[in-house]
Amino acid sequence: MPALDTVLAEQLATLARQGLRRDLRRVASPQGPHVRVDGRELRNFSSNDYLGLANHPALVEASVRAARDYGAGSGASRLICGSLTPHHEAEEALAAFKGTPAALIFSSGHVAALGVIPALVGPEDVVIIDKLVHACCVDGARLSGAKLRVFAHNDLNDLEQILQWATGRAELGRILIVIESVFSMDGDLAPLTPLVQLKEKYGAWLMLDEAHATGCFGPNRRGLAEAVGVGAQIDIQFGTLGKAIGAAGGYVAGSRTLVDYLLNRARSFIFSTAPVPAAAAAARAGLELVQGPEGVTRAATLWQRVNEMKTELAAAGWSPHASASAILPLLVGGENEAVELSRRLRGLGFLVPPIRYPTVARGLARLRLTLSAAHTSDDVQALGEALSVFRPESESSGASLGA
Ligand SMILES: Cc1ncc(COP(=O)(O)O)c(C=O)c1O
Repeated sequence: MPALDTVLAEQLATLARQGLRRDLRRVASPQGPHVRVDGRELRNFSSNDYLGLANHPALVEASVRAARDYGAGSGASRLICGSLTPHHEAEEALAAFKGTPAALIFSSGHVAALGVIPALVGPEDVVIIDKLVHACCVDGARLSGAKLRVFAHNDLNDLEQILQWATGRAELGRILIVIESVFSMDGDLAPLTPLVQLKEKYGAWLMLDEAHATGCFGPNRRGLAEAVGVGAQIDIQFGTLGKAIGAAGGYVAGSRTLVDYLLNRARSFIFSTAPVPAAAAAARAGLELVQGPEGVTRAATLWQRVNEMKTELAAAGWSPHASASAILPLLVGGENEAVELSRRLRGLGFLVPPIRYPTVARGLARLRLTLSAAHTSDDVQALGEALSVFRPESESSGASLGA
């Protein structure tokens, strides 16, 4: 058998030829609208730090205080002796924020999905996902062993047909639908109101991933479910503390029974060391900020920057797909072309990494611009000017790199 490194090096070379190889870039500054990479300051249009809280003094101070008061590590899983006060405080703050009786935090959103979905459904059951849900929900659904059905993106007729099929089979038990409220790579929104009507009509459970909506949508910035008034009908509210909230960690918010059940059954919660106290304390501080006057101002600034960016893009000849959020994808098409466009933008001082297969389908590579309340109008204008150099030939045929 060939040596491990020989096999892996060949596969890496294939990935590179296809424009699919990834490498880490070392960021030598805190997260923010400007970051330092390879000794150079770049305007960052790729983070999910939508409200600019990742390096906010209140979150930094809360982390430092928690490390001083509770140590650097958690020592054990939550169910052994690692369930520290900062974890409980973050969960209480999260439940109050989401308007649910209880909440449970995990070390990341990805890990939460791997625990939650298999805890709720198994081989006798059905899990139905939108075609574009995040990889963590796909992985959780596969891991559950439930019959997996995928409906075309945001296609309610397709979903209803699957629901009819599932409810028509006596041998099948529970039905869990998993969707995102803001789709992470397209920035478009799920039709939540009719989705909720469908899940109620067929007696299915609904798990809603609000990763990219929490902190940005709704009068209290709880998410899209709040914005459209269906929060109380979502069975499992799910998301991450690592985007607009400015910290790290995954969460589930819902009934006390749901949380009690999950802490008994979600394997990635049970068999894993608790998140470090600093992360939980930062999340709590982020949640407090998001709910207060600063949250109001920051969310308003975010939407202002999004609108400014859309104006700049239109002037530069780009159309950000069907986005209705702070995620503005610029479809390029070919993987190598997306890599090249990103490289050229970097040369001009912008960090906008290419998004390629398997994150999106082959041939649908893109630059995924994300806006933050921490961007200035000047940042946005500068990117608009840079993008006007690389006008797309047409939205589907890809960007012109000849300029
Ligand atoms: C839609 C969506 N769900 C879940 C996750 C996972 O969250 P985390 O980054 O906390 O693992 C992400 C992001 O990475 C995401 O974009």
